[in-house]
Amino acid sequence: MIPITLGDIAALVSGRLADGAEPDRLVTGPVEVDSRVPAPDGLFVAVRGERVDGHDFAAGAIAGGAAAVLASRPVGVPAIVAGDSVAALGRLAAGVLARLPAATVLAVTGSSGKTSTKDLLAAVLPELGPTIAPPGSYNTEIGLPLTVLRAGPQTRYLALEMGARGAGHIAYLCEIAPPRVGIVLNVGLAHAEMFGSREGIAKAKSELVQALPASGVAVLNADDDRVLAMRELTQARVVSYGTDATADVRAESVELDRLGRARFVLRTRAGSAPVALRLAGAHHVSNALATAAATGGLGLAVDRIAAALSVAEPASRWRMEVSERPDRVIVINDAYNANPDSMRAALRALVAIGRGRRTWAVLGEMRELGAAADDEHQAIGRLVARLNISVLVAVGEGAQPIRLGAGRDRSAATESVYVADAPGALDLIRARVQPGDVVLVKASRAVGLEQVAAGLLEPATAVGADPTDRPDAAGTGKAEVR
Ligand SMILES: Nc1ncnc2c1ncn2[C@@H]1O[C@H](COP(=O)(O)OP(=O)(O)OP(=O)(O)O)[C@@H](O)[C@H]1O
Ligand SMILES: [Mg+2]
Repeated sequence: MIPITLGDIAALVSGRLADGAEPDRLVTGPVEVDSRVPAPDGLFVAVRGERVDGHDFAAGAIAGGAAAVLASRPVGVPAIVAGDSVAALGRLAAGVLARLPAATVLAVTGSSGKTSTKDLLAAVLPELGPTIAPPGSYNTEIGLPLTVLRAGPQTRYLALEMGARGAGHIAYLCEIAPPRVGIVLNVGLAHAEMFGSREGIAKAKSELVQALPASGVAVLNADDDRVLAMRELTQARVVSYGTDATADVRAESVELDRLGRARFVLRTRAGSAPVALRLAGAHHVSNALATAAATGGLGLAVDRIAAALSVAEPASRWRMEVSERPDRVIVINDAYNANPDSMRAALRALVAIGRGRRTWAVLGEMRELGAAADDEHQAIGRLVARLNISVLVAVGEGAQPIRLGAGRDRSAATESVYVADAPGALDLIRARVQPGDVVLVKASRAVGLEQVAAGLLEPATAVGADPTDRPDAAGTGKAEVR
């Protein structure tokens, strides 16, 4: 964070200094919500989560070197007391960002691919200038301001992920960090139960383009009608991307290599250049185009965009992580989360990688789909059968409708197996997998299928949890959302 006094912070968040907090004390260190992370001369934000209350850890944070605590109530150690501490964190981030006029905010929203696209932006934007981007998702009312507060006077670009669990969430995040470039990837069914309908989801995502200034750029996916329709809702210049011939930024001659990584020709109004992605799955072409449209919109030349996209490595765990064992068994670990669109994308990648080999789809429940859940799971099952995937392993009660859907297609050769949980899936696959097979594991995070991938890769590759990229990434117990 930029050096700032406690008095200044109190003014920005409309709070008061308590318990010996000195107005002139300078905060020069990081802003943290996890008291286990030391914040020497930093600010500890006490957040009340579902499981733990950060206020209980305030004294420990000060003992660990924090200059003060941002809190909802007095905590017996130097603090800025400011009502709801999460709202105060948002006001602090907004106030600090307003003091950094050289920083341009790029924001990404959509049902699938926000983190993947944010990671690609973080790989390309340094071509234009110093960039701040969060680890993992960090897309909530906590994670986003924490990321903003990492910016300094030298920061030129902030690549932010914006998630929504309901109407008004993205508008709120845009108040904290007003974007100049807004990217809308897709409108899927992720978290449908919180929104009621796909229209409700589209409306929530459109809050991003509505927040853009006339001098801004709205980057819209031309392959998604609900996204393209948002062009009517923004005053910003629109740059569209996709396979549609009318799109401003397109991919031509897309081909996948043996590990499912796409090569294509990036075509823009300003020229063309070849791209070879290091990420698995054709769906990343779309994320790469969004990145190209955004960075091209900021003036980066197409050949530099293409070169940076081509060296970008997978940056966030458990999203289409492709590993090959010595016996040529390929494991695709996409266990980070699942919704119908990302399931379809992953199954297509499995088929592309598994051409001529035996393929396994190890699938668990897609959570939070509400009334659509049963139909959506059955549809995934039918797709598994239609794609002629060799073995479907449905993991857990919630995955039963996937198996049911696959069974409806009597002409298919897919063998369906049910197992109760992730350890059961691992035992089954270990017993039956053959050299050269390709195994995809994917479900909502809570199903824990990453254990299956890790087990299959032992001991060659140890897949450990990335502590910065968990559903409660901000260490607050508040779920990370899309
Ligand atoms: N454009 C896309 N279309 C469909 N699926 C995608 C797309 N991009 C990524 N995915 C898949 O969606 C899953 C989640 O990817 P990612 O973490 O990038 O999305 P996210 O929107 O950030 O998710 P979250 O809401 O959990 O933060 C992964 O399985 C990934 O392979
Ligand atoms: Mg994410």
